[in-house]
Amino acid sequence: MRTYLVTGGAGFIGSNFVLYLLGKHEDVRIVNVDKLTYAGNLENLRSREGDPRHIFVQADICDKAAMEGLFDTYQPDYVINFAAESHVDRSITNPEVFAETNVMGTVTLLNVARKAWETGDGTFGQHKFVQVSTDEVYGSLSLENPEVFFTEDTPLCPHSPYSASKAAADMFVLAYADTFGFPVNITRCSNNYGPYQFPEKLIPLMINNALQHKALPVYGDGLNVRDWLFVEDHCKAIEMVAHNGKLGEVYNVGGHNERENIFIVKAIIAEVSQAVCDPAINETLIGYVTDRKGHDRRYGIDPQKIKRDLGWYPETAFEDGIVKTIAWYLDNPEWVEHVTSGAYQDYYREAYGQ
Ligand SMILES: NC(=O)c1ccc[n+]([C@@H]2O[C@H](COP(=O)([O-])OP(=O)(O)OC[C@H]3O[C@@H](n4cnc5c(N)ncnc54)[C@H](O)[C@@H]3O)[C@@H](O)[C@H]2O)c1
Repeated sequence: MRTYLVTGGAGFIGSNFVLYLLGKHEDVRIVNVDKLTYAGNLENLRSREGDPRHIFVQADICDKAAMEGLFDTYQPDYVINFAAESHVDRSITNPEVFAETNVMGTVTLLNVARKAWETGDGTFGQHKFVQVSTDEVYGSLSLENPEVFFTEDTPLCPHSPYSASKAAADMFVLAYADTFGFPVNITRCSNNYGPYQFPEKLIPLMINNALQHKALPVYGDGLNVRDWLFVEDHCKAIEMVAHNGKLGEVYNVGGHNERENIFIVKAIIAEVSQAVCDPAINETLIGYVTDRKGHDRRYGIDPQKIKRDLGWYPETAFEDGIVKTIAWYLDNPEWVEHVTSGAYQDYYREAYGQ
């Protein structure tokens, strides 16, 4: 049986990954360590309550003693490090916590894992540390050259405090590989969407606001481009990288599925309006707001490497993924209600003045 230490497994992608692994494999054990910040929710894992293969531990990845205790007790084969502060807007108003969790938390985990996994001859056996990173570390592409994409060789050029913290963490991960021969992979994915995404991010924010006839805030001219990846496709990629990724390598995970933000918002309006038969959900809800500071114009990934080396490709077309995602939010109003009470409401009012 393989044991995965999954960090941030109560967040959006982490919880999808936990559910994906438990659903796919019988002989798997997941130690899910999450601090349960505003973004972490045990509701995401309710369907696995009582499953002995899933062990949840509330802890901070910056807490060295707690991480050492987990390695001693469970002796994980893999670490999949999702835990992070993940929202760019929050990194602009409060960068310190991004440096703390995203950089120092990753360094703490690297250090603890290195000590736990190192054998007498300085090698690390059949273990692996997978760092879940982002395409935002590469900076921004221009709209004028749509044929240019990020590859794994694109130099890092992060612009936001969020992407700077992720890039710094990536550099530590690669430094551990170079310095100690520590077994790592890094995945850098594009924008994920799907069930259980906290409704501060574009797609769930728009779905939930549309359902409540609230304004749909669109940054700037709405023409910024993101490459959208259905979360389950991302989960598959991470598992493939954990099992078959060549040690020390970086893999970009994206779908050649670039869309302007305004296209996404209009697609959501049309789909939600049709799904709930409500003509009041229409484009008059769109409100353009002052652009995000330092807003990257375009992200676009060339996923050739992971396709060629590991056989991964994104299976879910955006048109299908968005319908599934909207259907999930429509079916789970209690989840939305639960996660959007308290901290989120304050944040929303502060960010959008509503
Ligand atoms: N969502 C995306 O589109 C996207 C795109 C590229 C990369 N990523 C990366 O994927 C990872 C997961 O993203 P997400 O969207 O699921 O984020 P999320 O914000 O939904 O979840 C993050 C989780 O980490 C937990 N956490 C935060 N600080 C912690 C700490 N100090 N110790 C332990 N747990 C802590 C939170 O409680 C939460 O459950 C992140 O590393 C993010 O940078 C996300």
